Amino acid sequence: MAELVQQYLDRIRAEQIDTRDGALANYIPELANVDPEGFGLSLSSSDGYVYESGDAALEFTIQSISKPFTYALALDLIGQDAVDARIGVEPSGEAFNEISVDDVTKTPKNPMINAGAIAAVSLVPGAGPDEQFDRIHDFYSACAGRRLEIDMDVYDSEKATGNRNRAIAYMLASFGVLDGDPDDVLDVYFRQCSVKVTSTDLARMAATLARGGLNPLTGRRVIDAHVVRRTLSVMVTCGMYDATGDWVSAVGMPAKSGVGGGIVAVLPGQLGIGVYSPRLDARGNSVRGVQVCRNLSSQLGLHFLSVTRESSSTLRAVFDAGPGIRVYEVQGDLLFAGAEQVLRTADHDRGRYDVAVLDVTRVDDINDAARGMLTGMRANLTAAGKEAYLVDPDGRVVPADRHDDYDAIVFRTLDEAVNAALRRCAG
Ligand code: DON
Repeated sequence: MAELVQQYLDRIRAEQIDTRDGALANYIPELANVDPEGFGLSLSSSDGYVYESGDAALEFTIQSISKPFTYALALDLIGQDAVDARIGVEPSGEAFNEISVDDVTKTPKNPMINAGAIAAVSLVPGAGPDEQFDRIHDFYSACAGRRLEIDMDVYDSEKATGNRNRAIAYMLASFGVLDGDPDDVLDVYFRQCSVKVTSTDLARMAATLARGGLNPLTGRRVIDAHVVRRTLSVMVTCGMYDATGDWVSAVGMPAKSGVGGGIVAVLPGQLGIGVYSPRLDARGNSVRGVQVCRNLSSQLGLHFLSVTRESSSTLRAVFDAGPGIRVYEVQGDLLFAGAEQVLRTADHDRGRYDVAVLDVTRVDDINDAARGMLTGMRANLTAAGKEAYLVDPDGRVVPADRHDDYDAIVFRTLDEAVNAALRRCAG
């Protein structure tokens, strides 16, 4: 069966193989020395199975795809408030290397443009640039699930030609946004841009984000889930530079591109994608990479704002199980919208029962909002002179050791609950 998915990837890649639009980045001389035909595509499932097509083992420099990862690391290590004090989260609509800060706050507009990325580097704790870089290097490697290497030629080339980044770093230092020596910060930034990855590394790094910070290959938690959410948010709004609006409309996945020719894209909870093809469009995004992602999204239905089957499927069945006893069977993943539907339906029916039996046996997952709403439902019903019973054999809504806290009447099977309700109504 896996061949089927392999065939999709091979076909989508083959559709772009003759595309030769765009040009290699040449503002850093070493970047122009790669084979323009290199073309790799990798997709990791959220449980870590990787499909590869084409040059998926070919290494290239990560470049700006480093930015969301260093931002995540800074958030993880010093916390969101400290990071927010130095870097905004507003799209800039400007080129990646714009020498700019926010007019009012005098901080970089977001961490995906160079100004914000350089500021993020300076926020990574460490006794000096080597220690800071070691942390960054270890972190990228933990996300990829293997030790990544550095391309020293690209690093030298970046350093030799990085005057624009120097202008940005010194400007930030003048506004008090950078801690430490701007040249030290830049050295770490140039090194992080020169880390070598393959499209498969990117797919694995993306899958780690898709899994909320758990690397599905190694099973290690490498990022806190809240940090992942913030990082993905910034990737959605700022990840593809001034082409972000186009990207979100057409592809609909949090993503980040780099001038090395890579693109990383994440479908939260589902999968991670890495693509490599070094010819870039005018905005610095891989031409074939963007096209492949557009086609993957439309052909495999990956847009994160596609409205899937609605929460109407939450209420699986509603029926009377005896005089004054009404049963609500709930299924699937129960989030706010589903819980709201359950509450509203039970409320609407109120005149029809003395005991409402809520059966969550078939609920797969539930979040805190929905849990709070369902336990609150019982309080409301008792206040109205009714009873609410819960059938919750796996402790999804009310964990077994917390029945007392919630004052809940919990049963293991629907039969037990209905029998208890019959006795109550008879008594
Ligand atoms: O800052 C630079 O110039 C590069 N080393 C990284 C820039 C980059 O990848 C921009 N991306 N599209």
